[in-house]
Formats: sequence, structure tokens, C-alpha cells
Amino acid sequence: MIKISPSILSSDFAKLGADIESIAAADYVHFDVMDGVFVPNISIGLPVLSSVRKATDMVLDVHLMITKPHKYVGQFCDAGADIVVFHLEADEPQDVFAALEEIRAKGKKAGLALKPKTPAEAVRPYLHLCDMVLVMTVEPGFGGQSFMADMMDKVTAVRKMISEYGYDCDVEVDGGINPDTAKVCVAAGANVLVAGSDVFKAPDRAKRIGELRG
Ligand code: DX5
Ligand code: ZN
Repeated sequence: MIKISPSILSSDFAKLGADIESIAAADYVHFDVMDGVFVPNISIGLPVLSSVRKATDMVLDVHLMITKPHKYVGQFCDAGADIVVFHLEADEPQDVFAALEEIRAKGKKAGLALKPKTPAEAVRPYLHLCDMVLVMTVEPGFGGQSFMADMMDKVTAVRKMISEYGYDCDVEVDGGINPDTAKVCVAAGANVLVAGSDVFKAPDRAKRIGELRG
């Protein structure tokens, strides 16, 4: 089943509660955390996540674009994340293992994100600890960028690897997703679609979420 995860990076943070209610037709709420170091932008963090947790029962899909995520994943779990995805480029291998294990020990879903230049093979050593692999379809850091169609081979390679091992693991795509690119991603093997600007700019967000689901 295809799941839609609207990114609140494109919402109006002054009326975040209402904006989250407006995407109730979706499956997840995608929560982008940027530290200004791993990516050249700063967004939102733990206090906002705690508030969002109190405001909704939707699944909170947290995407950490921060350096040394192992230092923080526990706090994001405790603040109410249901899924914590971090970049494997952002930490040392032993800390990537430790962070995935910590997220799972807290009863949450764990995932790894891959920047456009990171090959699918990079995730293989960690795949048994992943509930989700996020293949970025833009350079992380900003909403509203153009979809990178050349990431589809990576989506297919990750999906194939998961199938070969027989793991239960989602493949998420993030960046430049609209109803057209969504179809391409699903055909390539993705089953969780993040969409920021496409959902929040739509006059009828519930309808748009349905169109993304296909
Ligand atoms: C980019 C973020 C995305 C972003 C997607 O670094 O991870 O989640 O909000 O925005 P759109 O859908 O507008 O490309
Ligand atoms: Zn994201």
C-alpha cells in the first residue's frame, strides 16, 4: 500500500495545528529537522516535535538532517517520533549501528536516508536494522526543488536488496514529488512518498493527497 507523508516544512508554522488537521487524509506527517551544518539550512527541532505530538495522533515520520544523529535519536523518540530516519553520511559506522539499535529499543521504527550521491550499496550493512530506507530525490536542505529522475535506479536497487533478504522495510522518496513523479517512484519500487510544496500549495489538500496516492 502506498503511504503519503506530507512534509510540514512547507506548512505555515504560525498555524501548524490547523495545517496538520488539513492533511488528515495522509498516512504520516513528515517532520524535517535541519541543523545548518549537515545541510545549509535550519528548520525545526525537539520542542516543536513535542507540541506536534500533543496535537495529533498521526504517525510522525521524523527526517533528521543533522550531524552526529546518534547523540539525538533517543531524544527524538522521547519527544514523540514514531519513525526516526537519519542520514548514514552523518555519522561513523559504529554510531549508525548504535543509533538504529537505540531507536528500535525504544519501540520506534528506524530508517536510514541516502543523499543523491550515496549509492544503494551503502545501506546494505545496516539493512537488517532498518524499517525504512529513504532515497532522497533532491539534495537535502530545502523544499520546492526539482525531482531527480536519475535516483530511480537507486530506488529499484534498494527495493531489490530488501526483497532478496526478505526484510519488511519501506522505501521512501523525498523531494520534488507530485502526482506525476509519484507514479515514477512507485513504479521504481517506492511505497512511502513525501510531498511538501505539492500538498501545501494545493487548494484542496485532501484531494491532492488522493491524487498522489494514485
Ligand atoms: C528536503 C526535505 C523534504 C522537503 C520536500 O530536504 O527533506 O522533506 O520538505 O519538499 P518538496 O516536496 O517541496 O520537494
Ligand atoms: Zn524530508
